[in-house]
Amino acid sequence: MNLCEQTENKFIELFGVEPQLFKAPGRINLIGEHTDYNDGFVLPAAIDKAIVFAMQKNEGNLFRFYSIDYQEYVEFEKVELLEDAPFWSRYLLGVLAQMQKRNLHFEGVDCVFSGDIPLGAGLSSSAALESGFAFGVNALFDFQLESIDLVKIAQKAEHEYAGVKCGIMDQYASVFGKKKQVVQLDCRSNTHQYFPLELKEDIFLLVNTKVKHSLASSAYNKRREECDTAVEYFRKYYPNVTALRDVTDQMLNEHIGKPDALSFQRALFVVNENDRVVKATQALLEDDLQYFGELMYASHQGLKELYEVSCDELDFLVKETKKIPEIKGSRMMGGGFGGCTLNLMKESFVEDFKSQITIKYFDRFGIKPEFYLVNIQNGVESIKTC
Ligand code: GLA
Repeated sequence: MNLCEQTENKFIELFGVEPQLFKAPGRINLIGEHTDYNDGFVLPAAIDKAIVFAMQKNEGNLFRFYSIDYQEYVEFEKVELLEDAPFWSRYLLGVLAQMQKRNLHFEGVDCVFSGDIPLGAGLSSSAALESGFAFGVNALFDFQLESIDLVKIAQKAEHEYAGVKCGIMDQYASVFGKKKQVVQLDCRSNTHQYFPLELKEDIFLLVNTKVKHSLASSAYNKRREECDTAVEYFRKYYPNVTALRDVTDQMLNEHIGKPDALSFQRALFVVNENDRVVKATQALLEDDLQYFGELMYASHQGLKELYEVSCDELDFLVKETKKIPEIKGSRMMGGGFGGCTLNLMKESFVEDFKSQITIKYFDRFGIKPEFYLVNIQNGVESIKTC
């Protein structure tokens, strides 16, 4: 039984009616980390790992949810955050809360879901949960929300119900992703362009460190504050600066170490990383993968040394690839403190690499890494039949 059939069957078993089916993918990000909430550029794509939702309105006013993966059932009479509610239900309630804030009227909703996006791997399973559920509720009640509204509802749900002040990238990629296309997203205007990813003999391979250090969400929110501090400082001198997107190399050079060493370091990283996304996009279009790979390494170095969101496991995996000529680039991907590295390498080398790195990583950390070769897929959509 596939994911879809399993989800549909469970819904019928629990609620006795036919559901509508939806699917929302996770994402990778080629380059551009921690730039989204600085009004910058990112280069994500939706992947063929996703969450499937079976959903239907119910007669009453209840919100009844079942997670197949956690084998947990919950029901709520109201959209409110109860202390003992399972964490996964917060994302769903968060979406409903945002819809209520927009004065959208709905009654009871039943939802069963299941996914194959590895959790805590930095592939945005939570964004998929939010976007897919938002898409489903929008369809069930015919709210006619625009896709960008679904993205914003999903992002706000993460802010207010999950407590992470994330940028817009993950939810955007989950909603706007397109088969075989990379999404070049401008997080200031919230507009995007697609372009095809054609790598010929190379591929992107994900290596999962299988760790997720606990400071991830608190450090994430802290980075945002540090960026805000830098913006406030630069705005005093350059009134047009409203985000780190507007800060230039020249401004940085004129204010080295200001307003304090740490905020300066963060700003320096973001300015450089934004510049790398522009260059990397151009390199992809020109088929210059060697240069794209160099930019990936530079991105990792910045994330490690200036932005300080990497960890030993990620650094080890990236460092090991530097010795291998078949690998053009490697870097940590996503928020940091664990999750996956993204590696650009010769397709013919993948199996060798997997066995080599599994031994080395296990020797060093006592953990077997996991590997994912992902295909680029459409964003959130209805499924007619499984
Ligand atoms: C997480 C957030 C995104 C983005 C990345 C870092 O995935 O949800 O908004 O900030 O980290 O690039």
